[in-house]
Amino acid sequence: MARFSGKVAIVTDITTSKGQDLIISSTLKKFGQINILINNAGANLPDASGNTRSNCAIENLQKMLQLNLQSVVEMTQKTRPHLAKTRGEIVNISSIGAAARGLSAEDSLKFYNSMGEIPHCIPAGYCGQPEHLASVIAFLADRKASEYIVGQTIIADGGTSLVLGMHSVFGVKK
Ligand SMILES: NC(=O)c1ccc[n+]([C@@H]2O[C@H](COP(=O)([O-])OP(=O)(O)OC[C@H]3O[C@@H](n4cnc5c(N)ncnc54)[C@H](O)[C@@H]3O)[C@@H](O)[C@H]2O)c1
Repeated sequence: MARFSGKVAIVTDITTSKGQDLIISSTLKKFGQINILINNAGANLPDASGNTRSNCAIENLQKMLQLNLQSVVEMTQKTRPHLAKTRGEIVNISSIGAAARGLSAEDSLKFYNSMGEIPHCIPAGYCGQPEHLASVIAFLADRKASEYIVGQTIIADGGTSLVLGMHSVFGVKK
């Protein structure tokens, strides 16, 4: 497809060694080098009873850690030699809350947009879209633009974390 010219798309499971190796080898085959690793795959996986986070079954928690943490470490270890050659970048995408994980895309959008209508939930006033995160990643990947940013945590949440403290002190209107 034209949309993918100059790009390589791989469908695989990032929690498997085979999947990780396939992503790296396919990228090297197509581009000959690796300039950036973006650890973006992640999810809050419900267990068989539909429970998530601290309520979910321990086996499920292990799967979540494997996806959200272990695969990040493994991909970092495996790409490090290639990134060293290009003085490349690593961007990890993570969550401090991810309240709507496990919802369908439609329900998730509805949930966040309804939050966006309440100014003390999302000060930006609207639900963030993929491009809002993609532009931050592109900025970090562009060494000319972000050369002097090293090892920082950047929060792109429409200001939500700025008002979290206010929620606990003043409560949230029902
Ligand atoms: N949506 C939010 O509000 C939010 C907030 C904070 C952080 N995040 C983080 O952003 C990242 C992207 O999430 P999103 O909101 O775009 O959700 P999403 O579900 O749209 O994207 C997650 C992607 O990870 C992929 N994935 C899941 N398990 C995988 C596996 N085993 N192997 C390969 N790919 C796998 C999914 O196919 C999906 O494309 C996640 O790490 C998430 O924790 C999201």
